[in-house]
Amino acid sequence: MGKLEQVAHSYLHKAFQLEKNGKKDEALKNYKIAANMIKKALELEPDHPLKNVYLEYLDHINNKIKLLQSDMMPEPIGGEEEEIELQSKPKVKWEDVVGLEEAKRAIEEAIIFPTKRPDLFPLGWPRGILLFGPPGCGKTMLAAAIASEIDGEFIYVDAATIMSKWLGEAEKNVAKIFKKAREIAKEGRPVVIFIDEVDSLLGTYSNEVGGEVRARNQFLKEMDGLQDKGERYFVYVIAATNKPWKLDEGFIRRFEKRIYIPLPDEEARRRLIEKTLARLNHNGIDVEELVRLTEGYSSADIVAILRDAHMITVRELFKETGGIGDPRPITMEDVKAALKRRKPSVKPETVKMYEEWAKKHGAY
Ligand SMILES: Nc1ncnc2c1ncn2[C@@H]1O[C@H](COP(=O)(O)OP(=O)(O)OP(=O)(O)O)[C@@H](O)[C@H]1O
Ligand SMILES: [Mg+2]
Repeated sequence: MGKLEQVAHSYLHKAFQLEKNGKKDEALKNYKIAANMIKKALELEPDHPLKNVYLEYLDHINNKIKLLQSDMMPEPIGGEEEEIELQSKPKVKWEDVVGLEEAKRAIEEAIIFPTKRPDLFPLGWPRGILLFGPPGCGKTMLAAAIASEIDGEFIYVDAATIMSKWLGEAEKNVAKIFKKAREIAKEGRPVVIFIDEVDSLLGTYSNEVGGEVRARNQFLKEMDGLQDKGERYFVYVIAATNKPWKLDEGFIRRFEKRIYIPLPDEEARRRLIEKTLARLNHNGIDVEELVRLTEGYSSADIVAILRDAHMITVRELFKETGGIGDPRPITMEDVKAALKRRKPSVKPETVKMYEEWAKKHGAY
């Protein structure tokens, strides 16, 4: 998930805290900031795979703002009954996700094979898959691709939002999500529950009185339920996190597959650069040099660098002609200028932490 959305989440969380404490004015301010940031994020990335999800959040937040403004809120948070809704399928294709071959293979074996031939799996099949790794390397994208590839339903859950939106109600809603999934699965269709930022279920805010503990325990209970003997229907939980070290042992154990989604290697960078350049007008770009220069950058960083480079030509066009005609092709110089202004979003020390966690807990 992009930085902007992340920051929006933290504003959202703050807004809920403030609202809970009766500081409605302050809460309102924070809701508004969050709403604006989500709007901005959508403007910047109009074909974001999770666009519909964000639009839905935006709706929720706007309702909240309206309620607060007219001061009709009968009580702070909680109480409000939320229906779990199925998401319309994101339009990310399996092939759109560059690299990550091992992750794709593991997911195919864990999800696609059992749905086709359950008889080949007398010992059952993995119900839980954890994707972990640095931001911007394709975790959410991969989940979106799975959703559009399987012939089944996809329930997107943003754990950070669950925890803030349903303060104190989170565990009830965790139960509701699983209940809904089981109902659909019983009709014979596979269901993937995708829990983004799953580490939020374990809490960061030590001042919260047990909300996370209950949500976490409910979650573990539901995960165990999926493994019950005789349950032959297809409910999968795919969880993603870029802070795997926040997960405790009980939690980790519930995910039979734990797949590292690393920074793009040389080959993945080459393919990502070629793929992105194919959508741009360019001239004389030395792809191999660019592959070398982008070592240590995330996939999202690389896309952003090329977008920045393109922006240079668009800016020029507006300056020179007021926006008439086409921008000139982007050159190596533009790309280098963009590179200079964008540092890798993941530090080498952090990469080491992921690698160590993968060594200790990886399973695929
Ligand atoms: N493997 C990839 N192939 C193609 N594009 C990618 C890949 N990984 C990331 N991107 C680009 O970066 C954007 C962000 O990726 P994504 O949201 O999947 O990252 P993430 O791993 O979920 O990050 P976070 O941990 O911050 O949630 C994507 O929308 C896409 O444009
Ligand atoms: Mg993500």
